[in-house]
Amino acid sequence: MPSQDQTVYPVTETSKRSTRVNAERYSEMYRLSVEEPDAFWRQEAARLDWMTPFTQVEDTSWDKDDLHIRWFADGTLNASANCIDRHLPERANDTAIIWEGDDPAASSKITYGELHDHVCRLANGLKSLGVKKGDRVTIYMPMIPEAAYAMLACARIGAVHSVVFGGFSPEALAGRINDCASDIVITADEGMRGGRATPLKANVDRAMQHAPGVRQVIVVKRTGGKMKWDPARDVWYHDLIARQPATCPPEPMNAEDPLFILYTSGSTGQPKGVLHTTGGYLVWAAMTHEYVFDYKPGEIYWCTADVGWVTGHTYILYGPLANGATTLMFEGIPTWPGPDRFWQVVDKHQVNIFYTAPTAIRALMREGDGPVQGTSRASLRLLGSVGEPINPEAWTWYHRVVGDGRCPIVDTWWQTETGGVMISPLPGATDLKPGSATKPVFGIMPALVSNEGEPLPDTGAAEGNLIIQRSWPGQARTIYGDHQRFIDTYFATYPGAYFTGDGARRDEDGYWWITGRVDDVLNVSGHRLGTAEIESALVAHTDVAEAAVVGYPHDIKGQGIYCYVTLNAGIIPTEESAQMLRQWVRQEIGPIATPDLVQFAPGLPKTRSGKIMRRILRKIAENEFGNLGDTSTLADPSVVEDLIENRKNR
Ligand code: WT7
Repeated sequence: MPSQDQTVYPVTETSKRSTRVNAERYSEMYRLSVEEPDAFWRQEAARLDWMTPFTQVEDTSWDKDDLHIRWFADGTLNASANCIDRHLPERANDTAIIWEGDDPAASSKITYGELHDHVCRLANGLKSLGVKKGDRVTIYMPMIPEAAYAMLACARIGAVHSVVFGGFSPEALAGRINDCASDIVITADEGMRGGRATPLKANVDRAMQHAPGVRQVIVVKRTGGKMKWDPARDVWYHDLIARQPATCPPEPMNAEDPLFILYTSGSTGQPKGVLHTTGGYLVWAAMTHEYVFDYKPGEIYWCTADVGWVTGHTYILYGPLANGATTLMFEGIPTWPGPDRFWQVVDKHQVNIFYTAPTAIRALMREGDGPVQGTSRASLRLLGSVGEPINPEAWTWYHRVVGDGRCPIVDTWWQTETGGVMISPLPGATDLKPGSATKPVFGIMPALVSNEGEPLPDTGAAEGNLIIQRSWPGQARTIYGDHQRFIDTYFATYPGAYFTGDGARRDEDGYWWITGRVDDVLNVSGHRLGTAEIESALVAHTDVAEAAVVGYPHDIKGQGIYCYVTLNAGIIPTEESAQMLRQWVRQEIGPIATPDLVQFAPGLPKTRSGKIMRRILRKIAENEFGNLGDTSTLADPSVVEDLIENRKNR
């Protein structure tokens, strides 16, 4: 959790000179956005090309008995045409995507003209396989341009893409394929990261054992590595597109037609398919990309996320391409072949805007200043941070060493469900405080409520649970196949408001400080994981009777995964069994979910009605067992003594 840092970094003279939005303009625009939203959004939505212009702006209700969210609902448009075709008259020969391979010697540039041809060929290829508007297509890909082509090809024909991060296990992949009943999977033979190959196609093959509905698997040849081949089901990407025409008329989509589903973890149950629609999402992606990064034509912009996460969707693909930007797509990892890789890439491609996660910054900070200072980075003008609270130490290092004290940092708070950035500085408008996401983006009305649901004062310093008081165009519309879960998760806790699941503090200057999740969701290296998911993976093992998972502070990852496990009677806990369970969870969910610490416990602390007292487990995991609070409701107080004695985080 970021401690408060009193230092203020005023807007730089350079930013002031070059920006579209200075402090006064921000206030004016913000005021308009909340006082005259209809006029404001009419104007912002005009940044897109509409096939049929919309007449209605907003039609939303957060009433749990009639919950609906509709923006620009009578307009039609196509996301792929907005990201490609409309730039062609002026930018056909400008670079849309710079691809930097895992191997530092491998890179390529794809112009908007080439992007158009690739996307159209694949769109036609998908059609030839019978993919139609509204069908769900699962994309399980490494960070190669074909991942972008696949997403845009779906958008072009109105298919709904569901990108599954390439680090997820076959089991996790199968669950996501089945949940949205997707019958086409696009993948690659292998992915390359840090010089090592991941067997993506082999993972898909294994997932197929649990996903019988898949008709066809399209395979990009990335490494040429060995794999099994089912001629009835598998088709090579290059064969599929070989004879396809390089034009494909973009399908007119209603603004409220689905664009994509993206699975994310919640505090209970299995991951949920967050659904975003076409018009509002794209307006939000394009608008926030332009204002938050103050993007100007010709600039080289690099977001280091993976397209398997929402950051990759909105800020590698849709936002930048809707704005005709040059977006860099990086296949590798920050530390390979050396800890200076990011900065080498910045110099190689003359990157102007660089957007990454606190966990990467902390990992690189540990390598010292040397690897950074061996590079120029003179092209950089703006840095960004996303995914978790950034501690002031990491912020200051990023600012001082990476940005040479010259580049503002935009600390952007948002979520899969929000579609794009919600709270963030604008480089030309906002004085910075290390660790604070600062001020709301246009149209966003954050507020604080107490645990009891009481609204907290809307001015002055306060701390509580973060809610958003009014809809915005980029908001998720539902959870795929489970609208009731959508309502229950986000709109039932504080009626009339969207509940973020985060805690926050607002200081005397109206600056927002996100303090982290207040629910049972972990943020491990910027990846969101539900404790319930890890627990269900653990209890799926035949040796495990019961498990409870909590987070604890971790220097690099932000949060680490702490598992309390009760084994079945007769099973002896050993170091090996702990190791085996870590491996098990890794296989069930994926490497990002690998437990850091496993503590075997004869019993878990429960109330007399059998509810696990997680508060106590969190305290022990944090090594803060001195003050456990009220333990009088414990069914068996002796359980706690054992837990403390055998705690793993010392
Ligand atoms: C959760 C959302 C936003 C895209 C990547 C993560 C945390 C995100 C920040 C930030 C403090 C942040 C929140 C949020 N979070 N950005 N700048 N400062 N916390 O998307 O996987 O949906 O996770 O990430 O806790 O709720 P996500």
